[in-house]
Amino acid sequence: MNIVLLGPPGAGKGTQAKVLAKKLNVPHISTGDLLRQNVAAGSELGAKAKDYMNKGLLVPDALVTQMLGERFKQAELKTGFILDGYPRNLNQAKELDVLLAGLSMRIDKAIDLVSSEAVIIQRLSGRLVCRTCGSLFHKTNMPPKKEGVCDACGGELYQRTDDKEETIRNRLVVYREEVAALLKYYKEKGLLVSVNADGEASLVLDKIIELLRK
Ligand code: AP5
Repeated sequence: MNIVLLGPPGAGKGTQAKVLAKKLNVPHISTGDLLRQNVAAGSELGAKAKDYMNKGLLVPDALVTQMLGERFKQAELKTGFILDGYPRNLNQAKELDVLLAGLSMRIDKAIDLVSSEAVIIQRLSGRLVCRTCGSLFHKTNMPPKKEGVCDACGGELYQRTDDKEETIRNRLVVYREEVAALLKYYKEKGLLVSVNADGEASLVLDKIIELLRK
């Protein structure tokens, strides 16, 4: 199964992708995580991407697509993959098809996680991320057992710099500008399924699995 997870910031793409990837035994590839790793490592790509990310803007397509192409070369893709955060616009969707065609692969399903603005703001303003392993928590929705400490690896939890309310609103504006064309693209290919992602994470996961079985 080659899956792309679509949806606004905070819809739960990362949360669902991590669990699904384990269940399906496929790699979880998140362009947001890859970009943040580059920023943290101080790489040339990270330096170019940082300002866009802090403003809630998309990093230029060419940079992200090249980074994804490199990641695809390293990943074990035989059983499939879950792509989270890419594509973000029509151009990236087409670029992805080209990248995959080069590997004799294609997308099997595009899962759109639909979430309301109030839920998104609540989720993102309370999100905590592990600096070491990337596990996701939430101050109230999914609190860690010990404050500030990752349940999975004991690493330090931090708040993303782009999870400030003003930046979240910019990210939502960018998302809304691009999403219609992206959804149309996958709908016309017969690959699009939508899931209401406002509910509890385990219920959202059940709905996704049900849709994948069909
Ligand atoms: P990225 O990291 O991809 O951010 P995003 O798309 O804005 O999505 P998020 O990671 O914020 O949210 P999510 O849907 O994964 O939610 P999560 O599971 O964490 O991108 C960041 C930036 O990088 C972009 O703004 C851009 O600058 C750049 N970028 C990345 N990809 C790019 C691309 N392709 N092209 C150009 N630029 C790119 O959940 C959020 C919180 O809610 C967590 O605290 C979680 O615990 C909680 N939660 C999740 N689900 C539930 C639930 N069901 N119930 C209760 N709480 C929940």
